[in-house]
Amino acid sequence: MNETVETRVLGTSDAEIAEAGQRLARGELVAFPTETVYGLGADATNDYAVARIFAAKGRPSFNPLIAHVADLEAAEALCDLSEDARRLASAFWPGALTLVLPLKTGAPISKLVTAGGKNLAVRVPSSPIATALLRAALSPIAAPSANPSGKISPTTAAHVLSGLSGRIEAVIDAGPCPVGLESTIVGFDEGPALLRAGGIPTEAIEACLGTKLQRHTETGTPTAPGQLASHYAPKGRVRLNATTPEEDEFHIGFGTIDGDISLSRNGDLQEAAAHLFEMLHIADATGCDICVAPVPDTGLGRAINDRLTRAAAPRG
Ligand code: TXA
Ligand code: MG
Repeated sequence: MNETVETRVLGTSDAEIAEAGQRLARGELVAFPTETVYGLGADATNDYAVARIFAAKGRPSFNPLIAHVADLEAAEALCDLSEDARRLASAFWPGALTLVLPLKTGAPISKLVTAGGKNLAVRVPSSPIATALLRAALSPIAAPSANPSGKISPTTAAHVLSGLSGRIEAVIDAGPCPVGLESTIVGFDEGPALLRAGGIPTEAIEACLGTKLQRHTETGTPTAPGQLASHYAPKGRVRLNATTPEEDEFHIGFGTIDGDISLSRNGDLQEAAAHLFEMLHIADATGCDICVAPVPDTGLGRAINDRLTRAAAPRG
């Protein structure tokens, strides 16, 4: 998209949510808060609007997108839910879980959302602003994270504006996102499989299903498309498991390792997840190389380490 549009910053009043819903219904792009990260929303039934998402993000390829809906009934109108899917939906929706499910024949979803495939990724967000917007828009909203392709996901409206100002019609500013990591993605093609670690810990999903999730690292197959090894890329080099910084490195601490800033001084993984992208944005703004203290690889720590590993991966 070469032309520049004026990006309106909207608050969370009923009138502003209604305006945002009308803009989506007109095919405009509206970034909005969810409990995980800010999403770049378009009407999921409108090919033209969904195509504009890829242009605004500068996405290299047409990866499939998550359709956000207001409630389970709205998800059921689009997809078939297996017994396992239903169990996860009732335990974790609304919330930071995306289910990849067979799309119903004739469901009014743009083929760009599924990348022409037979499955739709669907999520019921818990943010009350997202819910209000979904009800105002009167249709499912396709939304990737609201960052330019390959950049750090946004957890504030300011992050959204720094990447996408002039490329989207509006952003709803509702302050920082409480979870701070993208949703966990589970698919069911050959039994339940973890396609992306995220805001709901893997252990909680496995406890709910009473079975282990397949992991792409174990099977070599199921994974969410578009998960590049290098992602969430700050400008500087990123070094992990750093207890002490090298000269000129900006150090992100955790627990007893203080750093220049800390993900969580108490070693609280939930707090660390909520702060992760904000800290990477701050570190990135210094222009320095970045190093990060070790984070335990359990619960939300798994998703935090997944994002850090991508931030540290060699750039393609
Ligand atoms: O928390 C989140 O999930 C945020 C907020 C805005 O909801 N969204 C988000 O979207 O992280 P995005 O586009 O940045 O990541 C979505 C992931 C991609 O890796 C994509 O490949 C995968 O979901 N995905 C989408 N549709 C899929 C499908 N039909 N099958 C498999 N994976 C799919
Ligand atoms: Mg993303």
